[in-house]
Amino acid sequence: MIILFGGEKGGTGKTTIATNVATWLANYGKDVVLVDTDKQGTASRWVARRNEYYPDHPKIHISRQTGNVFQAVRDLATRYEEVVIDAGGHDSEELRTAMVACDKLYVPLRASQPDIETTVHVSELVKLAKSFNPSINSYALISQAPTNPFVTERQEAEEVLSELEELVMAKQFIRDRKAYRDVMADGLGVVEVSGKGRAEMQLLCQEIYGEELLNAEVT
Ligand SMILES: Nc1ncnc2c1ncn2[C@@H]1O[C@H](COP(=O)(O)OP(=O)(O)OP(=O)(O)O)[C@@H](O)[C@H]1O
Ligand SMILES: [Mg+2]
Repeated sequence: MIILFGGEKGGTGKTTIATNVATWLANYGKDVVLVDTDKQGTASRWVARRNEYYPDHPKIHISRQTGNVFQAVRDLATRYEEVVIDAGGHDSEELRTAMVACDKLYVPLRASQPDIETTVHVSELVKLAKSFNPSINSYALISQAPTNPFVTERQEAEEVLSELEELVMAKQFIRDRKAYRDVMADGLGVVEVSGKGRAEMQLLCQEIYGEELLNAEVT
């Protein structure tokens, strides 16, 4: 499956979630390639740290692609079991062509007005991509949600997002946890360390990769 993490807002957690999903897949024994289409190269540097610090951990392959990535992504999908694409936080040729190449798009968003506003245009891009790729499934995914149970921003955001035509609300959401920043610096994923992030990432991956993986245990 080809899965894309993209959107039109910077800093929403795209690279964090892409690297963590790739880690979960690798730990589940999948042959996974992470496609870094962002010129900032954050995902590529994360893989470089992983290879340097943890050479014996499950391997995650990396491929850097820019411009029209459609053909490269489809080629990678013939060589690897799973393709995870990380796109930069703006409207770009990379984002648009990756949307046409992918099976599933997740748009991570913080539960704040500036992030939510961008989804209107993302939804239009999805509509456009669907004229070339009608089978794409597209979701909004709340990221960096406050851990304080009294903060209702997430529920409010979910109500607004549920009105969007082209984006379905993901059931699972990702909370704001220091663990995500720590593993990013270390070249790891939250499923490789103890803590609450591990369980929520497991649930997100089960939602993405479907029923057959519901009982999957990370090694
Ligand atoms: N769930 C989270 N909990 C805590 N910190 C997070 C979480 N997700 C992301 N961050 C932090 O927020 C910052 C932005 O995250 P990230 O780089 O994943 O966003 P991005 O959407 O890929 O950004 P860009 O648009 O620049 O590519 C990073 O410092 C990251 O460590
Ligand atoms: Mg990024």
